[in-house]
Amino acid sequence: METNSVEGCHIGRLRWLVAGSQILGLASVIMTGVWLGHYHGGFAWDRTPHQFNVHPLCMVLGMVFLYGDAILVYRTLRNEGKTTLKVLHAVIHLIALVVVIVGIAAVFDLHIAKKVPNLYSLHSWCGLSIIILFCLQWVMGLAFFLFPGVTYSLRTIYYPYHVFFGLALFILSIGTCLTGITEVLLTSIRDTYSKFDPQGILANALGLVLVCFGLLVGYILTRSEWKLPVSSEEEALSLHFKTLTEGGSPSSLRRQ
Ligand code: HEM
Repeated sequence: METNSVEGCHIGRLRWLVAGSQILGLASVIMTGVWLGHYHGGFAWDRTPHQFNVHPLCMVLGMVFLYGDAILVYRTLRNEGKTTLKVLHAVIHLIALVVVIVGIAAVFDLHIAKKVPNLYSLHSWCGLSIIILFCLQWVMGLAFFLFPGVTYSLRTIYYPYHVFFGLALFILSIGTCLTGITEVLLTSIRDTYSKFDPQGILANALGLVLVCFGLLVGYILTRSEWKLPVSSEEEALSLHFKTLTEGGSPSSLRRQ
């Protein structure tokens, strides 16, 4: 009875934190839209500077908000079946990937049209590396966790790498957004940025909201009390695998 009330309290706290993360995630997308809409003339696909604005909006939406929500699926939808969660996780990532490709195409297409050099900045080097790793991570995740022919033992070996790279890419994406925001500010309001230009304040606030979103998602993900329990079937499978390979106990294995 007491265990149930402690569990209920944990889940209640999780709900509040997830709600907070959604407010921050949505706020980051809205602030990006307002910043580029109000101060940089809005969005278009016409090889004018307005086409550039599609890039940050898509990157914040795809690489941060949708990516974060795809990771959170395993903590928020606790009563869904394992396959439903895996499919949802993959589908949200796929939507994020499509949005990211549009965002990247916007800036490459504009640079090529305007004969601006590609990939000269630290931001673009980090950005391209992240996108390549994101595609790899998605394909590997699909192959290991959704492809029916892969054995449980292989999944167990790959699982920690998937979790590490998933979280690392999420954090790096936020860092890359911060370098992109700084680059835009230093080129558009170079002379007034240090005088607390309202655009600078809005973009700085956007950066902080992105960091807070990342911290909150990271916190929710890494707390052990919100990780999903191992199902009895997986426990049996992991027992079989661990006994065969190491003679160890499966109790430390989590749901994959
Ligand atoms: C995870 C998110 C992001 C990724 C992966 C990313 C990736 C990239 C890549 C690969 C380029 C090179 C395009 C080319 O060379 O033609 C680029 C350019 C650019 N991005 Fe991003 N970007 C991200 C977010 C942002 C954000 C949020 C902003 C600004 C608010 C931004 C601003 C810029 C600017 C100003 C350029 C052109 C100058 C340059 O090449 O550095 N980016 N981005």
